[in-house]
Amino acid sequence: MRLFRCGVLCCALALVLGGAGLAAAAGPIRIKFSHVVAKEAPKGRAADRFADLVNQRLKGRVEVQVFHNSSLFKDREEIEALQLGAVQLLAPSTAKLVPWFPQYQVFDLPYLFSDQEHAYKSMTHPRVTARLFPLLKSRGMLGLAAWDNGFKHMTSNKCPIAKPEDMKGQKIRVQSSKVLEEQFRLVGATPQVMAFSEVSEALRRGVVDGQENTFTNIHSQRMHEAQRCLTVSTHGYIAYVVLTNALFWEGLPRDIRDVLESSLAEVTRWQVELSAQAQEEARRKIEEYAKTTGKLQITVLTPEQRKQWAATFQPVHKKFESLIGKDLLDLVSSLAK
Ligand code: LMR
Repeated sequence: MRLFRCGVLCCALALVLGGAGLAAAAGPIRIKFSHVVAKEAPKGRAADRFADLVNQRLKGRVEVQVFHNSSLFKDREEIEALQLGAVQLLAPSTAKLVPWFPQYQVFDLPYLFSDQEHAYKSMTHPRVTARLFPLLKSRGMLGLAAWDNGFKHMTSNKCPIAKPEDMKGQKIRVQSSKVLEEQFRLVGATPQVMAFSEVSEALRRGVVDGQENTFTNIHSQRMHEAQRCLTVSTHGYIAYVVLTNALFWEGLPRDIRDVLESSLAEVTRWQVELSAQAQEEARRKIEEYAKTTGKLQITVLTPEQRKQWAATFQPVHKKFESLIGKDLLDLVSSLAK
């Protein structure tokens, strides 16, 4: 029983001890990059591209190994593993940071961002990172970059979802963010926090009725095949903070760190463009699936309907204003065009 309950901690310790052993022996510095989405999702592809670039440019000195699809750690575990030094790179969505840093919930606020540009600019603006990165540092982590994943949409087995009232009584999976829980409570649904790796199966088994996510996550996890309807609601945003363990990163030889950081900057520029295209491509594939199988009903909210949803969700902004920090919220709001 003790052995069973030791779970993440034991796995992380084994990796740390294994890593220490490897570091002691002559050989490349190993960087484990763990994440929870599919290899073909924009985050998975960017992690692979970063590994390829670094493994070429620092051949024999650094070896980056990518672990896709929660194959090493799930959402919360991976952050604990990073702090313990069992992995060296992650790219969690901002919502996954909320249990430690409630300020990150600013990115979860529904209908806060006017468009994609506003959303990503908010992730990278120096005044925003100046507020948020020191928080990460206080827990031994360094924020290195922001990767994008676009806007979220809703899916469910209880259909249709066109008006806020349609959510009444539905059980909806959310990421670990109180803002997201409150968002669904406001429309009479019951939110359930669940690790990303468990969502598809939970939808298939009817453990939850629905969830909210980006087109690439829905498509690459085949969530649309487990749902009867999808509403293009564009109500929330998902972006990632590329994170490392501060002690590890700051202990790297300067020349190695320079190559890692310039490679990451290069991949980041590519990732943001890729994500925008990938969302469109995943949307087309989901629409094609709906058309050919007749098993998925797609509703696109009209601007009027979006206004109605935004008004219903608005109280969550006020409720979380002091937890997020009014100045941060005002700053992010002011970055709209
Ligand atoms: C989710 O848990 O729904 C997403 O944050 C997963 C991801 O990393 O995109």
